[in-house]
Parts: sequence; C-alpha cells; structure tokens
Amino acid sequence: MSYDKLDYSLSVNGTEYPVTARVDRNLLSVLREDVGLTGTKQGCDDCECGACMVLVDGAPVNSCSYLAFQAQGREVTTVEGVTSDGELHPLQQNLLEQGGVQCGFCTPGMIMSAMAMADSEPTDEQIRIGLSGNLCRCTGYAKILAAVKKTLSP
Ligand code: FES
Ligand code: FES
Repeated sequence: MSYDKLDYSLSVNGTEYPVTARVDRNLLSVLREDVGLTGTKQGCDDCECGACMVLVDGAPVNSCSYLAFQAQGREVTTVEGVTSDGELHPLQQNLLEQGGVQCGFCTPGMIMSAMAMADSEPTDEQIRIGLSGNLCRCTGYAKILAAVKKTLSP
C-alpha cells in the first residue's frame, strides 16, 4: 500500500510550521522529526504509556496514535509550550521540588495531562483519573500526584 505525501501546516505552541509528510505519519513523529520539538517522548508507540501526550485544542491526546494531518487547523501544545520566557512553569518547579522527576521520561506526558486540568481546580480523585493514562516506572506516583495537587488545587 502506498501513501501520498501531503503539504500542510501545524500550529504548535503558537507557531505555524510547514509540514510535508505521508498521510500515515503520526503526530508524535512529525513533532519530533519534522518540527524539531523532541520534548514529547516515544514510549510504547501503542497508546499505552502516555509518554507522548500533547494537547490538541486543550484536550490531551496520545500523539503516537493521532495522525498528524488531523491536527491541521487546531492548536497543538507540547511540553515546550509550557515554559514561558525560559522560566519553568510552577508545575515543573513543583515536580522538581517534590521529587516527582527521576529518569524524567514520563515527565513531559505527565505535565501535559496535568495541564489539561489546569483550569478546573481538580479534586484528588480527578487528578488521579486525569493522570491514569500516564505510566511512570520510577517514582511510585505519590510525589507526582503531590506536585500536581500543589500546583492545581493548593
Ligand atoms: S508512546 Fe504514545 S502512549 Fe506510549
Ligand atoms: S520518572 Fe522515570 S518513568 Fe517516570
């Protein structure tokens, strides 16, 4: 089966990027290899681990399982878009202070899932549910949950 290349543009963190890519390319690979934003991580590549989580129009999606061309006309936010003027977001600072980062591989995806709840002052249960699609092999989760709670529902 052959796939045609498409020319389109993606709006990522407020910047428009021209893309020429086969229609079967996922958003994760286009972000990392074409757009050059490598903060979003590839873990399972099968919609299981959440390492590839980004926001599309504010909603969390596993970018390994989302076709890049489907993001045309939408706003994509990656972990690079969370910082401003080189300053860590309070959530990033709290993750560091609470010990919620060890190897760091899950961290970008965790941050993006948490950012999807940023306007809602979530309960503990809502935070757990919101992060339930993100796996961490290092921390045991408690410190991540504490950092997210301190940031979103202090
Ligand atoms: S890499 Fe996408 S969910 Fe694991
Ligand atoms: S800090 Fe290593 S996977 Fe979460």
